[in-house]
Amino acid sequence: MTVLICGGAGYIGSHAVRALRAQGREVVVLDNLLTGHRQSLPADVPFVEGDMRDPALLDAVFGRYAVDGVLHFAASSLVGESMQLPLAYFSNNVHGMQTLLEAMVRHGVARIVFSSSAAVYGEPDSVPITEDAPLRPGNPYGESKRIMESMMRWAAVAHGLRYVSLRYFNVGGAVADGSIGEDHRPESHLIPLILQVPLGRRPHIIINGDDYDTPDGTCIRDYVGVEDLIEAHVLALRHLEAGGESAVFNLGSEQGFSVRQMVDAARRVTGHPLPVVMGGRRPGDPARLVASSRRVGRVLGWRPRQSVEEIIASAWRWHSSHPDGFGA
Ligand code: UFG
Repeated sequence: MTVLICGGAGYIGSHAVRALRAQGREVVVLDNLLTGHRQSLPADVPFVEGDMRDPALLDAVFGRYAVDGVLHFAASSLVGESMQLPLAYFSNNVHGMQTLLEAMVRHGVARIVFSSSAAVYGEPDSVPITEDAPLRPGNPYGESKRIMESMMRWAAVAHGLRYVSLRYFNVGGAVADGSIGEDHRPESHLIPLILQVPLGRRPHIIINGDDYDTPDGTCIRDYVGVEDLIEAHVLALRHLEAGGESAVFNLGSEQGFSVRQMVDAARRVTGHPLPVVMGGRRPGDPARLVASSRRVGRVLGWRPRQSVEEIIASAWRWHSSHPDGFGA
């Protein structure tokens, strides 16, 4: 049986493809390559280039491959861009989920593991954030993920689907051998931006504000390594295959690191002095996002293993061996 990996050519999806194939699973990747990279996938992986919003394409994929489960990574995922282009975000993310779920129902595929986000919570009342915290997304990206979760919930009630929704906190790092990794264009995430300094691609890292109510004044986030994150997807798929109930889980380390602490960790990993320049706050940034991951530990037995330094070190192996990412 085959796992359909939607968005399998993206940063996180491509790591999932590797992990599932390493376990001997059959996979097929669907990706429109708007932000994904064909080069992030082994040449022999079954690959369909196209858009999830095309029902005929989904029929062709489900008709050709014996799909019995879906990992859904395909989405637009930049918070700032979503504020500029909310309708494009609802189209790609929400409409994409609708056509996918409709096709799953048509073809009798009943299991889906979904990439959700801490962005569904917005600014939390307190940390660590549990899955029962109020959902108050502060931008169209987070809102789209909240709606996508609801769509799965109601499709489960009506059509007997079962799903696991994984709410990622801050994902970073790369596969241990550094052969694939993060390549966003333009780059917007903290760890790759920090590492552009020792790569000689930028003179300094700008810290987005040091007047937050945190010990060193900079924002605190909960970083989880991409390999640990993928392990949670494998466990979630097995949970559904074993007849487990639908569930929503946070994926984080339960530990917060400030932007300054991340820069310090990158200094230790790279040996570079990493100059910083203080900038203003980035609109919409919550001061602290730290997960409670107790539920996923209890139900799936998942525990992240990678420390922040290991996450940065794996990212550094990727970026220093591929300074231009996947190339032009
Ligand atoms: N930051 C800097 N300088 C930079 C880049 C980032 O100081 O050059 C700061 C940000 O302001 C933030 C922290 O580093 O305080 C982390 O920023 P990222 O952009 O790496 O990540 P976010 O926490 O903003 O976003 C992440 C995911 C989103 C998800 C969000 C949930 O990347 O997809 O968490 O709130 F929506």
